[in-house]
Amino acid sequence: MNLLVTGGVGFIGTNFVKYVMSHRPNWSVTVLDKLTYAGRRENLAEYEGSSRYKFVEGDICDPVIVRAAMAGCDGVVNFAAETHVDRSIDDPASFVRTDVEGVRVLLEEFKLDNSRKIFLQISTDEVYGSVETGRSGEGDPLDPRSPYSASKAGGELLAMSYFTTFGTPVIVTRASNNYGPHQYPEKLIPLFITNAFEGERLPLYGDGGNMRDWLFVTDHCSALVAALEKGTPGRIYNIGDGQELTNKQVTFAILEATGADTSLVRFVEDRLGHDRRYAVNVSRASEELGWKPQTNFESGIALTVDWYRDNSSWWQSIKSGEFRDYYKRMYSTRLENSERIQ
Ligand code: NAD
Ligand code: TYD
Repeated sequence: MNLLVTGGVGFIGTNFVKYVMSHRPNWSVTVLDKLTYAGRRENLAEYEGSSRYKFVEGDICDPVIVRAAMAGCDGVVNFAAETHVDRSIDDPASFVRTDVEGVRVLLEEFKLDNSRKIFLQISTDEVYGSVETGRSGEGDPLDPRSPYSASKAGGELLAMSYFTTFGTPVIVTRASNNYGPHQYPEKLIPLFITNAFEGERLPLYGDGGNMRDWLFVTDHCSALVAALEKGTPGRIYNIGDGQELTNKQVTFAILEATGADTSLVRFVEDRLGHDRRYAVNVSRASEELGWKPQTNFESGIALTVDWYRDNSSWWQSIKSGEFRDYYKRMYSTRLENSERIQ
């Protein structure tokens, strides 16, 4: 396949391109990425100059750039998105623009060439909203509750409407929370790992009891390749690992793996509209794609901590830039009014 991978130098995109370059030697990849604060071209520097890899800097909302980047591609994997729930509470506009309108621009260009094989829209389990009990199945109603998840729901609904209306071969995947190398240190796991290394406080929202279903990023990538190869157009596939942990449990795993002290943990003011729990049923991906995750949380978190330990210049350069203002804005007051763990 000749794939257009949008958002390809963000967290999951980077891991996906690396996975494809090493596991699918006959495939080639064009990355289209706007290089927002979350995108780093140097993540894939090792492939620059390869005949199987091309990098295009640009916005998925720009039809001219999208046309040029998609030329010659028979598959699209759309990772490009604004992705951080906290930033979506601060500034929803960029979320609606990229996560909905950007998807429309990509779909419009894709459908001009009937020989194109597959449009894979990367979505999230957050579109189901907070699930207090049980596990969300693909047929469950959507109940997105943050500007991020509402925009992602809009993007995937639009993509599926192109399948129904125009016969565009769309597949949607809804993955649970990913963790692993190259994740921007604003998300829980990389923020807490790097704060622990720096002796900084770990700001746990609310009572620390919110639950997520953690998926090691390479397992997500193998599921996406399986979806490209074996998925049925018009289908939605949940992707997750069933490794449900409270944020407090994740925090203690990070303290143990980094050797940092419990005294760094702080309970801070909760996120607005904070979803209590996400959990997905992945039997469809398992039965129809023959996919199974391989990495349990214990080994995944050890690999992740090792990566951040070995690549301190990667995250230190991020944390010393724009991030500093963001961190102050988000956490200064919260940390002033925080409580230590008993
Ligand atoms: P990320 O924020 O690390 O990366 C997003 C990438 O998209 C960046 O490289 C950024 O520069 C690029 N981008 C943003 N706006 C763009 C635009 N208008 N045009 C072109 N490029 C643009 O995100 P991630 O964690 O790698 O997530 C990738 C995808 O997976 C997203 O669609 C997200 O909704 C989905 N997802 C993420 C998770 C998770 O836990 N991280 C879980 C489920 C689904
Ligand atoms: P995050 O990594 O932002 O992913 P998402 O909101 O998409 O699930 O957050 C994961 C969980 O960690 C979520 O319940 C919010 C919580 N959290 C904190 O407690 N403190 C923090 O500083 C951050 C960033 C997240």
